[in-house]
This record gives sequence, C-alpha cells and structure tokens, in this order.
Amino acid sequence: MLTVKGLNQYYSESHILRDVDLTVPTGSCTCLMGRNGVGKTTLLKAIMGLVRIRSGHIEYAGQTLSKTPAHYRARVGIGYVPQGREIFPQLTVEENLLIGLDITGAKHIPERIFELFPILKTMRRRRGGDLSGGQQQQLAIGRALALQPKLLILDEPTEGIQPSIVQEIGQVIRRLNQDDGLTVLLVEQKLPFARKVAEHFSIMERGRLVATGAMPELNDELVRQYLSV
Ligand SMILES: Nc1ncnc2c1ncn2[C@@H]1O[C@H](COP(=O)(O)OP(=O)(O)O)[C@@H](O)[C@H]1O
Ligand SMILES: [Mg+2]
Repeated sequence: MLTVKGLNQYYSESHILRDVDLTVPTGSCTCLMGRNGVGKTTLLKAIMGLVRIRSGHIEYAGQTLSKTPAHYRARVGIGYVPQGREIFPQLTVEENLLIGLDITGAKHIPERIFELFPILKTMRRRRGGDLSGGQQQQLAIGRALALQPKLLILDEPTEGIQPSIVQEIGQVIRRLNQDDGLTVLLVEQKLPFARKVAEHFSIMERGRLVATGAMPELNDELVRQYLSV
C-alpha cells in the first residue's frame, strides 16, 4: 500500500500541492484525475522523489520514503512512466530497456515485457527515435517494467497516441494489474479509458484532493464539476 499524508509542495513561491492525502491499496488500480495544471504530475513526482516536498509523509510497504532519493524508491519497487515518455531516441530499444537495470541489480530484460509488447522484440535493434509515438510509449512502460516494480505509476500513458495503441496499452495495464498482481496508479484524462482500466478514482482540483471513490461512483456531477473542460 502507498500512503501519502498531508503533502505540501512548492515551486519557489507557488504553493502547488496542498495537504494532499492519497491511498493506493495493494493490488488496486487507481486513476488520478483532474484538469490540466491541477498538480497531478507534481504529485507523482513527489511520490517518486523527483521534486522536494515542504511537508508531509510518503509511505510505501511500511517504509517511510518522504526524504529518500528517487533511485531508492525505484529499488523498493516503485516504477514510473513519466508524462511525455522521455525515452532515449538515440539508443536502441534494447539499450533503452537495459537502462536502469543496475538500480535493482537485475541482469536481464524480463521476457514478460516482450510477451506484453511483442513490437519491442521485433524492433529491439531499432533506435528509440525511429518508433512511432505509441511504440515509444510502449517502450517507456517496458523500461519501467524492466526493474520489476510492484507498484507502477503512469502519467497520462495515452496522451497523443493513436487509438489502436491506446487500446493495447489499456489491455496491458489490466493484465499487469489482474494477472501479474501489480498495483497501479495512473493519471488519465480519457474518461472511457479510465473507467475501463481503473477500479478507484481520486480527483484533484487546484492542488487538493477533492473526491475519491470506486469507479462506478464517478457520476456526471463529479465529471461536470471537476473534469469537463
Ligand atoms: N518545474 C516547474 N516550475 C514551476 N511551476 C511548475 C513546474 N511544473 C509545473 N508547474 C506548475 O505547477 C502546477 C501543476 O502542474 P502539473 O503538476 O504539471 O499539473 P497537471 O499534471 O495536473 O497538469 C501548474 O500550475 C504548473 O504550471
Ligand atoms: Mg501532468
């Protein structure tokens, strides 16, 4: 279980995260939602140790992470797929997958990644930059999976991706959660996708967590108030 309590974060003088509490139960798939600019990415970065927090507590699997470095959080089993993918375009697919393995001491790319994303096997010697946007997103997810995380955090994995690959990514997230038992926390703006993939939702508005529940409770009123543009 991941527990965030009373988190406050600033970018210089701007107070971004405001007393955020968030719980992601082990084995669940939780979708963090909210309009652009409300602080979703910042919250994920705070969980990963990529931005400094002013106050609050982050705990995962019984360990306090609040002030630990990012590589430590990867080592205890938290995988992260950043918004905008950020793969290395000049490296091959295989080299991209090998990056970071030394953080966990793993020696090989798990075969499971190629089972989930056969395209990465076919294209393993191609440069990352030669892949389509959707393939690069699959590579970014594969790279996070190479560290064999127990909790996978994904920031808008379907943003700007062609519909056929959006579907594939949705299926992979479900298989990881249901078959492999990974806990998943994802940010997603596409409502039908979020409804299909996640079982819980948490909604942010101006740096605060304002609503949370089981996905069937995400009603039109909440959508109108916090999500529609
Ligand atoms: N590196 C940064 N420096 C200063 N302000 C930032 C930085 N990154 C994001 N922000 C601001 O923090 C707020 C939350 O951003 P972000 O977490 O990216 O929102 P979301 O992911 O919900 O779209 C926004 O107002 C954004 O402009
Ligand atoms: Mg974002």
